[in-house]
Amino acid sequence: MKLCVVGTGYVGLVAGTCFAESGNDVTCVDIDQRKVADLRNGKIPIYEPGLEELIRRNVTDKRLHFTTDLASAVREGMVCFIAVGTPQDDDGSADLSMVLQAGADIAKAMPGYRIVVLKSTVPVGTADKLRATMSANTTHPFDVVSNPEFLKEGAAVEDFMKPDRVVIGGNSDRALSLIKELYAPFVRTENPILVMDNRSAEMTKYAANAFLAMRISFINQVANLCEKVEADVAEVRRGIGFDRRIGHYFLFPGVGYGGSCFPKDVRAVIRTAEEHDMDFSLLKEVEVVNEKQKHVLVEKVHTHFGTDLRGRKFAIWGLAFKPRTDDMREAPAVTIIEELLKGGAEIAVHDPEALARAQEVFGDRVSYHRANYDTLPGADALLIVTEWNEFRRPDFARMRELMKTPLILDGRNLYEPAVMKQEGFSYYPIGRPSVTQ
Ligand SMILES: NC(=O)c1ccc[n+]([C@@H]2O[C@H](COP(=O)([O-])OP(=O)(O)OC[C@H]3O[C@@H](n4cnc5c(N)ncnc54)[C@H](O)[C@@H]3O)[C@@H](O)[C@H]2O)c1
Repeated sequence: MKLCVVGTGYVGLVAGTCFAESGNDVTCVDIDQRKVADLRNGKIPIYEPGLEELIRRNVTDKRLHFTTDLASAVREGMVCFIAVGTPQDDDGSADLSMVLQAGADIAKAMPGYRIVVLKSTVPVGTADKLRATMSANTTHPFDVVSNPEFLKEGAAVEDFMKPDRVVIGGNSDRALSLIKELYAPFVRTENPILVMDNRSAEMTKYAANAFLAMRISFINQVANLCEKVEADVAEVRRGIGFDRRIGHYFLFPGVGYGGSCFPKDVRAVIRTAEEHDMDFSLLKEVEVVNEKQKHVLVEKVHTHFGTDLRGRKFAIWGLAFKPRTDDMREAPAVTIIEELLKGGAEIAVHDPEALARAQEVFGDRVSYHRANYDTLPGADALLIVTEWNEFRRPDFARMRELMKTPLILDGRNLYEPAVMKQEGFSYYPIGRPSVTQ
């Protein structure tokens, strides 16, 4: 089948590539000329495990194309996916201007019937808005299918190829059965394709993200209480996780959630509720807890060193909002580093993939290091902000030698306090017993 994917970000690029990988002829469209030029030259604008190889293979096999010419892609493609951004607007709601613009552009270019699939995360009622926008720009028939995306950055290709479930919403049997066919290669292990109305599909995506954000804020508050009462959140997490009603996922305390989805999606649900005269107070608190949690590591720094950090040097391991991505949108590292800089500290940072993005955020206010150990010479402390796997078993003896003081503030609980004691480090994790030497 010939497909057109509008927007080649984390979602559009992965979706387009995976649809090509399953044998479709896919044209990915973006308004960002540099991005398209890079993609045509084999340069992948984002880091996502496994993606580069898949893109290369499908481009070579001529199933995957990149263009800025939306009209020609729409003329060719019977199904058009919209995967453009829906960033937060000033009032917390989702900004739909890019989605509706893409819809209008598709409508103007359609030579006949088309199926438009909304992959972007959009508030309830957007499919109806998109229908109205498209109707104003074409006389040809079309259907709008809502198909929210649940992939995780860092495992996007795998998630897309093997989704827990696919959700599609719409009111046209013709369109729904065609989209089901498109997804059939990805659900060969019988994972369900759930068919529903547009509004329920739209709401499903927000409910999923809001629920996961709620779990993170919940365990973060449990962790903070554990510190007060001298309990160990790692034990508590195991203790509750084996309850099948609770489970182990998304119960890791840390420095708060970030990224391009949870923060804006939580705010969008709160805003949608307000628009319908409802106070979603639970989610408001999820957000408040998360904002506070981004400061927990710096509070520990202040308790140890005081608030005047002039003459102090801190090493930071991990900048991306989570491992296996280079995405720094709303990353807790930004809040943490800005706070330390405000105190007058010198900062040396390392991240396996996000250094280029970090440079856009911090410029020359911090020093950047490709090797994690290079951040440590003369450091008063190391702060761990993202749980990259390569940080889990470092050479502690080498670290001790390089650092001015053997002190680790661990925002991701990577190490065992007992081991740190043996290794001669002072160690401050989240919600676990700390070690002072
Ligand atoms: N990133 C994720 O992990 C994730 C997961 C699930 C859902 N989502 C949702 O998917 C949507 C896209 O997210 P993303 O992270 O891929 O965004 P992104 O910002 O990485 O990419 C969006 C792309 O769309 C392009 N674009 C904007 N307007 C365009 C237009 N009119 N025509 C062509 N291209 C256009 C931009 O240039 C950009 O390259 C959002 O609604 C997001 O909430 C994201």
